[in-house]
Amino acid sequence: MDWRYPRHIAHRCGGALAPENTLAGIRLAARLCFRAVEFDVMLSADGVPVLIHDATLARTTDGSGCVAETSLARLCHLDAGVKHHPAFAGEPLATLEQALTVCHALGLSANIEIKPATGHEAETGAVVAKYAAQRRSAATLLFSSFSEPALSAAREVAENLPRALLVDEIPPDWQERLRQLECFALHCAARHLRIAQAAEVVASGFPLACYTVNRPEEATRLFAAGVSAIFTDRLDLFEPGKSSLSQ
Ligand code: G3P
Ligand code: MG
Repeated sequence: MDWRYPRHIAHRCGGALAPENTLAGIRLAARLCFRAVEFDVMLSADGVPVLIHDATLARTTDGSGCVAETSLARLCHLDAGVKHHPAFAGEPLATLEQALTVCHALGLSANIEIKPATGHEAETGAVVAKYAAQRRSAATLLFSSFSEPALSAAREVAENLPRALLVDEIPPDWQERLRQLECFALHCAARHLRIAQAAEVVASGFPLACYTVNRPEEATRLFAAGVSAIFTDRLDLFEPGKSSLSQ
């Protein structure tokens, strides 16, 4: 497996300084010495993986309606930058293919969060994994998802690409779920994590990564508890160039 966690991962490509889930964000993360980015991937109406967090277009683009009901041709004409700041007007909504190409060119690893629209869980997992597997030489990859059907479908298509289970709160049966999905790592919300839980995961030999951590002192506390990596929006508050890779 190629994936190794850097301490700091740009969450949604670093959504505080650049529009979230965009190529502009990926480029900014690289300029600020991040080694990895996380972005959310969903399918267009015609089944092409694109970078977006919400099931609907209104919050982050100048479009409206549902991503899953909009064709790639229409999505590619949307502005995914102007809602963040007019300085980013014209930033296009990116495809997974474009994002992986830019990550590869900039030497960034990519955590692809499979974010299926409701009812499209297995299809999204399978299509995203197929796309990524075909381009696996393009960048070092890790899949994660809150959707267990999506992770299961990704495993069917690309069993050798690493997977992490994404949860809000760590459930009591976390280890059994990881085992069933053959996930090698757990990603959870920092706000719910108790130190004892972190210790249990780490002692079991599974890397643990936490989102979304925007205060350096919180990151320090999590690293001391054995957390491998944090996802942050605040690329300006951390110095990823000074830390080494962990697991
Ligand atoms: O992958 C970690 C994090 O991105 C999960 O939450 O809602 O920001 O995609 P969300
Ligand atoms: Mg995400």
